[in-house]
Amino acid sequence: MTDSFDAYVFDLYGTLVDYTSLGASCASFAPQPESFVLAWRAKQVSYTFAATLMDRYIDFDTITMMAFDYVAASNDHAPSTAERSAAIAAWSLLPAYADVVPALVALRSRGAKIAILSNGTPRSIATTIENANIAKYFDAVLSVDTVRRFKPHPSVYDLVCEQFTMTPERIAFVSANGWDATGAAEFGFRVYWCNRGQMPAETMGAKPTRVIASLAEFVD
Ligand code: LAC
Repeated sequence: MTDSFDAYVFDLYGTLVDYTSLGASCASFAPQPESFVLAWRAKQVSYTFAATLMDRYIDFDTITMMAFDYVAASNDHAPSTAERSAAIAAWSLLPAYADVVPALVALRSRGAKIAILSNGTPRSIATTIENANIAKYFDAVLSVDTVRRFKPHPSVYDLVCEQFTMTPERIAFVSANGWDATGAAEFGFRVYWCNRGQMPAETMGAKPTRVIASLAEFVD
């Protein structure tokens, strides 16, 4: 069983909800929808890093659209307004991974606080978790919008400590994104890297406390 913590905090995209399902909304114009989605995600994340380094806040919805336009252009495709809208809207319709609800139910029975900490805008996070039927499990839903910087800036992780008036070592942070796991570990959280993508371990920065293959392993 995972050690006991005062709060369990989850990343959203790729950790609780599955963005690989976006492929369906790109299939009409992308010959290889899965590769398109991976390139889209990579560009989206790199724009969040760039914006924070430039000290310029551009919200995640806008960044997602900019990244889409870039990857479409790199595929020599000029998306129609309808294609663009459908692809962006699909981010709010992402399904929860099958291991999410059982893990959240198990954690709730431990009486600890449960939260989301995401790069997403408050509105998009709220719509996404409503549609995925997981909104009711969280005591707090925290967006980077409050500090106008993206992960892995420490001010983002500190939102959790402020929210619950807790020190980082009492907080378990779960992310499927290696770079997010590194940032959270550097901040001082106890980090569980849910390696859904079977990626190699990050070679820079603080290591996660534990690597898990799924959330089932986290609450086992
Ligand atoms: C998030 C992205 C980074 O939810 O997965 O913050």
